[in-house]
Amino acid sequence: MIAQLSGARIAYDDVGSGSPIVFIHGFPHDRTLWSRQIDALSLQVRCVAPDLRGFGESSEQGPFSIDLYADDIAELMTYLGIERATICGLSMGGYVAMSMWRRHPHRVSALALCDTKGGADNEEGRKKRNDLIALAEREGSVAVAANQIAGMLGKTTREKRPEVVETIKAMMERASVAGIVGAVASMRDRPDSRTTLATVTVPTLVVVGDEDVLTPMSEAQAIVAALSPTAQARLEVIEGSGHATCVERPAAVTHVLADFLTALSANH
Ligand code: MLT
Repeated sequence: MIAQLSGARIAYDDVGSGSPIVFIHGFPHDRTLWSRQIDALSLQVRCVAPDLRGFGESSEQGPFSIDLYADDIAELMTYLGIERATICGLSMGGYVAMSMWRRHPHRVSALALCDTKGGADNEEGRKKRNDLIALAEREGSVAVAANQIAGMLGKTTREKRPEVVETIKAMMERASVAGIVGAVASMRDRPDSRTTLATVTVPTLVVVGDEDVLTPMSEAQAIVAALSPTAQARLEVIEGSGHATCVERPAAVTHVLADFLTALSANH
């Protein structure tokens, strides 16, 4: 489905009923990243998954920033009549989820931060972003996908799950250059979210693949340490998975999310 919002046309899925959860994809993905979780969890809750502006079927043009992605999600929630939701984001989607808490805390009933990190880019990180922008502009999304694939997936997946490698590679290859460039610049310029984490007052699940090299276990532990005690942080490690946990070990991620959502509903 498509929602025409004030700043962008946003494509989304909205399946199931009950307490809502919004799934936010990473870079350079689209909303199909979360398909397996949505198939299973829509039997239990209402699952909403947008394509961030620049990706999937959403409008290709900017402007782009992590905060604008978050504002689109808040506006999409309003459009769908959703006041508060669990906000679940992977990697760049986690940056957007933290921005949701910073900018729209009253719209967030819980957070699930998957394979992401709280800090901003350092000098070296920002230089790598600029190199990636140059690569995208010069050679397009296929080159970007080739550049990202090793960091995106764990060793086990790369060796043993060729169909997962193909799925995520195809997803990255169909991203538009405008969306890629906008997202890389948005990540390069994103604010440090560690002080934001210290203000979180809603239950927060932190998920990480034990083979994640992009945002490794130490980053997940740093998020847990930065969160305020009222977030009752819960860390779940997905074994045999790299960065893209929800596609590498879909059943395991669905399971930890289902447990988290069940605990949330039991506390209401
Ligand atoms: C992502 O998976 O969303 C990105 O790789 C995160 C990042 O580069 O910081």
